Amino acid sequence: MPAILLAVTGTDPQPWEARLRALAPQRDIRLWPDRLGDAADIAYACAWNAPRGLFARLPRIKAIFSLGAGVDHLLTDPDLPDVPLVRIVDPDLTMRMTQYVVLHVLLHHRRYRLYDVQQRERAWREHPQPPASAVAVGVMGLGELGAHAATALARLGFRVAGWSRTPKTLSGIECFHGEPGLDPFLRRTGILVCLLPATPATQGILDLKLLHKLKRDGAAGGAYLINAARGALQIEADILAALDEGTLAGATLDVFAREPLPPASPLWRHPKVTITPHNAAFSDPHALAANVLRQIERFEAGLPLEHVMDRARGY
Ligand code: NAP
Ligand code: GLV
Repeated sequence: MPAILLAVTGTDPQPWEARLRALAPQRDIRLWPDRLGDAADIAYACAWNAPRGLFARLPRIKAIFSLGAGVDHLLTDPDLPDVPLVRIVDPDLTMRMTQYVVLHVLLHHRRYRLYDVQQRERAWREHPQPPASAVAVGVMGLGELGAHAATALARLGFRVAGWSRTPKTLSGIECFHGEPGLDPFLRRTGILVCLLPATPATQGILDLKLLHKLKRDGAAGGAYLINAARGALQIEADILAALDEGTLAGATLDVFAREPLPPASPLWRHPKVTITPHNAAFSDPHALAANVLRQIERFEAGLPLEHVMDRARGY
């Protein structure tokens, strides 16, 4: 039987291996680097930040599965073979991201950071609590994750808009698209959520020029940024400048240009910044190993793979 290779760095492959073995005991599962065996046996690779050049050394590779929603970590390999690159789309991952987005929109909307400081000072002081219906949230990226998060925010009563590359229609969401749609989208947005993929077109998009266009005088009480997409999208010096000059009232950052975020980064200690360690939507092997195995079964049954990334589009 064709073997499945797990090639993972920066995260523990053991839970993935255990879950794949439990769900498919008949499968030949290999682990990079120590248990790769004969490279010619490997038909499928399950990868997260795998070393560059590895896939080119697998002569019978048929498909590569990203163990997350993003595929940018695969595209950094200049010798990537011409096989389908499949990304994770799964209700478990989508729900985790929506929870993160809702948590951090509410954290800013309900002034949680302020109350946290006040608690340490034993200060009993209320701050204005505008209705969600007065607060304009904008979600960049209306794909699997962005559309779900936007819909959940709309259900909580926020005034939600989204921005995508191509036109969209989503119930209860004001949809903008393309270059001409970006400025009007930003100008009505008080809390900006980024869920775009990392591509040449989105690289560095979260810069000072963009942040200046956000709505600062709305009910959100300033402009806020939540980036749960990729660090490559943000210019960290610009975010710091925006926070210090008051363009941004706060930021939640889950992703960074360099991960782990170096201890010397001024973002760590900035009073207006909330940091999480790239875990907005954890890829849970318990839920997602089944997703990958189902795709392999589809492929072997002659059915098309789902959620294959489009190399021309870059995501
Ligand atoms: P997706 O389904 O591919 O959706 C991507 C969205 O971005 C689409 O709406 C797309 O527009 C839009 N887009 C792409 N390029 C654009 C551009 N140049 N201008 C405007 N809009 C553009 O991806 P997804 O599954 O929602 O995931 C999004 C990203 O989240 C992933 O790529 C990954 O980097 C990140 N992520 C982070 C974590 C974490 O834990 N921090 C976890 C999972 C995923 P169209 O709809 O017009 O194609
Ligand atoms: C995580 O960052 C993912 O792309 O799923």
